[in-house]
Amino acid sequence: MSDKNLVARQAARQIESGMLVGLGTGSTADLFIEALARRHREEGLQITTVSSSPVSAVKAEQLGLPQIAVEQVVRLDVYVDGADEVAPDLTLLKGRGQDLVREKLLARAAERFWVLIDASKEVGRIGARFPIPVEVWPFAWRAVRGLIGELGGTAELRLNQAGVAVTSAGGMVLDCRFSDEPTPEVLDALLSEMPGVMEHGIFHQLATTVLVAADGQVCERHA
Ligand code: A5P
Repeated sequence: MSDKNLVARQAARQIESGMLVGLGTGSTADLFIEALARRHREEGLQITTVSSSPVSAVKAEQLGLPQIAVEQVVRLDVYVDGADEVAPDLTLLKGRGQDLVREKLLARAAERFWVLIDASKEVGRIGARFPIPVEVWPFAWRAVRGLIGELGGTAELRLNQAGVAVTSAGGMVLDCRFSDEPTPEVLDALLSEMPGVMEHGIFHQLATTVLVAADGQVCERHA
Protein backbone atom coordinates (compact mmCIF):
# COMPACT_ATOMS: atom_id res chain seq x y z
CA MET A 1 0.00 0.00 0.00
CA SER A 2 1.31 3.49 -0.85
CA ASP A 3 2.15 5.95 1.94
CA LYS A 4 -0.67 8.24 0.71
CA ASN A 5 -3.15 5.40 0.95
CA LEU A 6 -1.90 4.44 4.40
CA VAL A 7 -2.33 7.93 5.81
CA ALA A 8 -5.75 8.32 4.14
CA ARG A 9 -6.99 5.10 5.73
CA GLN A 10 -5.63 6.02 9.14
CA ALA A 11 -7.48 9.36 9.03
CA ALA A 12 -10.70 7.67 7.90
CA ARG A 13 -10.47 5.27 10.88
CA GLN A 14 -10.52 8.27 13.25
CA ILE A 15 -13.84 9.63 11.94
CA GLU A 16 -16.78 9.00 14.28
CA SER A 17 -20.51 8.65 13.63
CA GLY A 18 -22.40 11.94 13.83
CA MET A 19 -19.55 14.07 12.46
CA LEU A 20 -19.81 16.70 9.74
CA VAL A 21 -16.64 16.04 7.71
CA GLY A 22 -15.03 18.44 5.22
CA LEU A 23 -13.52 16.75 2.17
CA GLY A 24 -10.37 18.25 0.67
CA THR A 25 -9.17 18.10 -2.90
CA GLY A 26 -6.28 16.25 -4.53
CA SER A 27 -4.95 12.72 -4.83
CA THR A 28 -4.56 12.17 -1.06
CA ALA A 29 -8.01 13.63 -0.30
CA ASP A 30 -9.41 11.29 -2.99
CA LEU A 31 -7.99 8.28 -1.14
CA PHE A 32 -9.49 9.57 2.11
CA ILE A 33 -12.91 9.94 0.45
CA GLU A 34 -12.66 6.34 -0.78
CA ALA A 35 -11.68 5.03 2.67
CA LEU A 36 -14.49 7.01 4.32
CA ALA A 37 -17.05 5.78 1.81
CA ARG A 38 -15.92 2.21 2.51
CA ARG A 39 -16.56 2.68 6.24
CA HIS A 40 -19.94 4.29 5.50
CA ARG A 41 -20.93 1.37 3.27
CA GLU A 42 -19.47 -1.55 5.23
CA GLU A 43 -19.70 -0.38 8.87
CA GLY A 44 -22.74 1.91 8.65
CA LEU A 45 -20.71 4.96 9.76
CA GLN A 46 -23.26 7.80 9.96
CA ILE A 47 -21.65 10.98 8.71
CA THR A 48 -22.42 14.05 6.63
CA THR A 49 -19.81 15.53 4.29
CA VAL A 50 -19.15 18.86 2.62
CA SER A 51 -16.75 19.18 -0.30
CA SER A 52 -14.07 21.77 -1.00
CA SER A 53 -14.39 21.37 -4.78
CA PRO A 54 -16.75 20.22 -7.51
CA VAL A 55 -14.37 17.30 -8.21
CA SER A 56 -14.55 16.01 -4.62
CA ALA A 57 -18.32 16.57 -4.53
CA VAL A 58 -18.81 14.37 -7.60
CA LYS A 59 -16.54 11.69 -6.14
CA ALA A 60 -18.38 11.71 -2.80
CA GLU A 61 -21.73 11.52 -4.59
CA GLN A 62 -20.61 8.60 -6.77
CA LEU A 63 -19.49 6.73 -3.65
CA GLY A 64 -22.80 7.36 -1.87
CA LEU A 65 -21.59 9.71 0.89
CA PRO A 66 -24.32 12.00 2.30
CA GLN A 67 -23.49 15.63 1.49
CA ILE A 68 -24.52 19.16 2.23
CA ALA A 69 -23.54 22.28 0.28
CA VAL A 70 -20.81 24.66 1.45
CA GLU A 71 -23.50 27.36 1.68
CA GLN A 72 -25.06 25.47 4.60
CA VAL A 73 -21.89 25.24 6.68
CA VAL A 74 -21.19 27.37 9.74
CA ARG A 75 -18.97 24.96 11.71
CA LEU A 76 -17.77 21.46 10.92
CA ASP A 77 -16.19 18.82 13.12
CA VAL A 78 -13.18 18.07 10.99
CA TYR A 79 -11.71 19.10 7.66
CA VAL A 80 -9.34 16.60 6.01
CA ASP A 81 -7.08 17.60 3.12
CA GLY A 82 -3.62 17.20 1.64
CA ALA A 83 -1.00 19.93 1.25
CA ASP A 84 1.81 20.79 -1.13
CA GLU A 85 4.35 21.72 1.58
CA VAL A 86 4.34 21.57 5.40
CA ALA A 87 6.78 23.58 7.54
CA PRO A 88 7.96 22.55 11.04
CA ASP A 89 5.46 24.97 12.69
CA LEU A 90 2.65 23.32 10.63
CA THR A 91 2.25 26.26 8.29
CA LEU A 92 1.02 24.82 5.00
CA LEU A 93 1.34 25.71 1.37
CA LYS A 94 -1.73 24.70 -0.63
CA GLY A 95 -3.38 25.58 -3.90
CA ARG A 96 -1.65 23.73 -6.68
CA GLY A 97 -5.25 22.79 -7.44
CA GLN A 98 -7.98 25.27 -8.32
CA ASP A 99 -10.06 25.38 -5.15
CA LEU A 100 -8.26 27.57 -2.62
CA VAL A 101 -11.25 29.67 -1.54
CA ARG A 102 -13.40 26.77 -0.39
CA GLU A 103 -10.41 24.90 1.04
CA LYS A 104 -9.49 27.75 3.36
CA LEU A 105 -13.12 28.50 4.22
CA LEU A 106 -13.64 24.91 5.40
CA ALA A 107 -10.25 24.72 7.13
CA ARG A 108 -11.12 27.87 9.10
CA ALA A 109 -14.64 26.68 9.95
CA ALA A 110 -13.45 23.32 11.25
CA GLU A 111 -12.95 22.39 14.91
CA ARG A 112 -10.06 20.23 13.74
CA PHE A 113 -8.05 20.35 10.51
CA TRP A 114 -6.17 17.17 9.69
CA VAL A 115 -3.54 17.35 6.97
CA LEU A 116 -2.50 14.15 5.22
CA ILE A 117 0.95 13.99 3.64
CA ASP A 118 3.84 11.73 2.88
CA ALA A 119 7.30 12.75 4.06
CA SER A 120 8.17 14.30 0.68
CA LYS A 121 5.91 17.28 1.56
CA GLU A 122 7.95 18.28 4.63
CA VAL A 123 10.06 21.41 4.07
CA GLY A 124 12.09 23.77 6.25
CA ARG A 125 10.06 26.73 5.04
CA ILE A 126 7.01 26.99 2.79
CA GLY A 127 7.65 28.31 -0.69
CA ALA A 128 10.95 26.43 -0.72
CA ARG A 129 9.87 24.16 -3.54
CA PHE A 130 6.66 25.51 -5.01
CA PRO A 131 5.53 29.07 -5.74
CA ILE A 132 2.89 30.57 -3.45
CA PRO A 133 -0.46 30.66 -5.27
CA VAL A 134 -2.40 33.91 -4.97
CA GLU A 135 -5.95 33.77 -6.31
CA VAL A 136 -7.12 37.13 -7.66
CA TRP A 137 -10.23 38.70 -9.06
CA PRO A 138 -9.70 38.51 -12.86
CA PHE A 139 -9.88 42.30 -13.32
CA ALA A 140 -7.18 42.78 -10.66
CA TRP A 141 -4.39 40.45 -11.78
CA ARG A 142 -2.05 43.11 -13.18
CA ALA A 143 -2.58 45.40 -10.19
CA VAL A 144 -1.90 42.56 -7.74
CA ARG A 145 1.18 41.52 -9.71
CA GLY A 146 2.42 45.09 -9.24
CA LEU A 147 1.77 44.96 -5.48
CA ILE A 148 3.61 41.62 -5.23
CA GLY A 149 6.54 43.32 -6.97
CA GLU A 150 6.50 46.08 -4.35
CA LEU A 151 6.95 43.36 -1.70
CA GLY A 152 10.03 42.13 -3.56
CA GLY A 153 8.32 39.12 -5.13
CA THR A 154 7.69 37.93 -8.66
CA ALA A 155 4.31 36.73 -9.95
CA GLU A 156 3.49 34.58 -12.96
CA LEU A 157 -0.05 34.21 -14.26
CA ARG A 158 -1.02 30.53 -14.16
CA LEU A 159 -1.84 29.06 -17.57
CA ASN A 160 -3.30 25.73 -18.66
CA GLN A 161 -4.03 24.04 -21.97
CA ALA A 162 -7.08 26.26 -22.49
CA GLY A 163 -5.11 29.47 -21.90
CA VAL A 164 -5.47 31.30 -18.58
CA ALA A 165 -6.34 28.96 -15.69
CA VAL A 166 -9.64 29.86 -14.00
CA THR A 167 -10.43 28.51 -10.52
CA SER A 168 -13.70 26.94 -9.38
CA ALA A 169 -14.49 30.28 -7.67
CA GLY A 170 -13.93 32.20 -10.92
CA GLY A 171 -10.53 33.64 -10.02
CA MET A 172 -7.18 33.69 -11.79
CA VAL A 173 -3.96 32.54 -10.08
CA LEU A 174 -0.63 34.30 -9.73
CA ASP A 175 2.13 31.85 -8.80
CA CYS A 176 4.46 33.98 -6.67
CA ARG A 177 8.02 33.66 -5.47
CA PHE A 178 9.63 35.66 -2.69
CA SER A 179 13.10 35.74 -1.22
CA ASP A 180 13.55 35.04 2.52
CA GLU A 181 11.72 38.24 3.49
CA PRO A 182 8.92 38.73 4.29
CA THR A 183 8.51 35.60 6.41
CA PRO A 184 5.52 33.31 5.65
CA GLU A 185 3.73 34.63 8.76
CA VAL A 186 4.08 38.27 7.63
CA LEU A 187 3.29 37.34 4.05
CA ASP A 188 0.08 35.64 5.19
CA ALA A 189 -1.12 38.91 6.73
CA LEU A 190 0.05 41.09 3.83
CA LEU A 191 -1.60 38.93 1.16
CA SER A 192 -4.82 38.61 3.17
CA GLU A 193 -5.13 42.41 3.23
CA MET A 194 -4.09 43.06 -0.36
CA PRO A 195 -6.85 44.56 -2.53
CA GLY A 196 -7.80 42.34 -5.46
CA VAL A 197 -6.76 39.12 -3.71
CA MET A 198 -9.51 36.50 -3.28
CA GLU A 199 -7.39 33.99 -1.35
CA HIS A 200 -3.85 32.68 -1.12
CA GLY A 201 -2.13 29.39 -0.46
CA ILE A 202 -0.46 30.09 2.91
CA PHE A 203 -2.41 28.27 5.64
CA HIS A 204 -0.90 29.64 8.85
CA GLN A 205 -2.09 28.43 12.29
CA LEU A 206 -4.96 26.44 10.78
CA ALA A 207 -3.78 22.82 10.85
CA THR A 208 -4.40 21.07 14.16
CA THR A 209 -2.81 17.73 13.21
CA VAL A 210 -0.51 16.67 10.39
CA LEU A 211 -0.42 12.93 9.70
CA VAL A 212 2.85 12.03 7.98
CA ALA A 213 3.37 8.69 6.29
CA ALA A 214 6.85 7.37 5.63
CA ASP A 215 8.10 3.85 4.96
CA GLY A 216 4.81 2.23 5.87
CA GLN A 217 4.37 4.09 9.20
CA VAL A 218 2.20 7.08 10.13
CA CYS A 219 3.23 9.63 12.75
CA GLU A 220 1.15 12.55 13.99
CA ARG A 221 2.36 16.10 14.57
CA HIS A 222 0.11 18.36 16.61
CA ALA A 223 -0.12 22.16 16.67
C1 A5P B 1 -5.54 21.39 -3.74
O1 A5P B 1 -5.84 22.68 -4.12
C2 A5P B 1 -4.22 21.34 -3.07
O2 A5P B 1 -4.12 22.28 -2.05
C3 A5P B 1 -3.95 19.94 -2.58
O3 A5P B 1 -4.39 19.81 -1.26
C4 A5P B 1 -2.52 19.65 -2.68
O4 A5P B 1 -2.09 19.96 -4.00
C5 A5P B 1 -2.20 18.21 -2.32
O5 A5P B 1 -2.50 17.35 -3.36
P1 A5P B 1 -2.03 15.84 -3.39
O6 A5P B 1 -2.70 15.16 -2.26
O7 A5P B 1 -2.52 15.36 -4.74
O8 A5P B 1 -0.54 15.82 -3.30
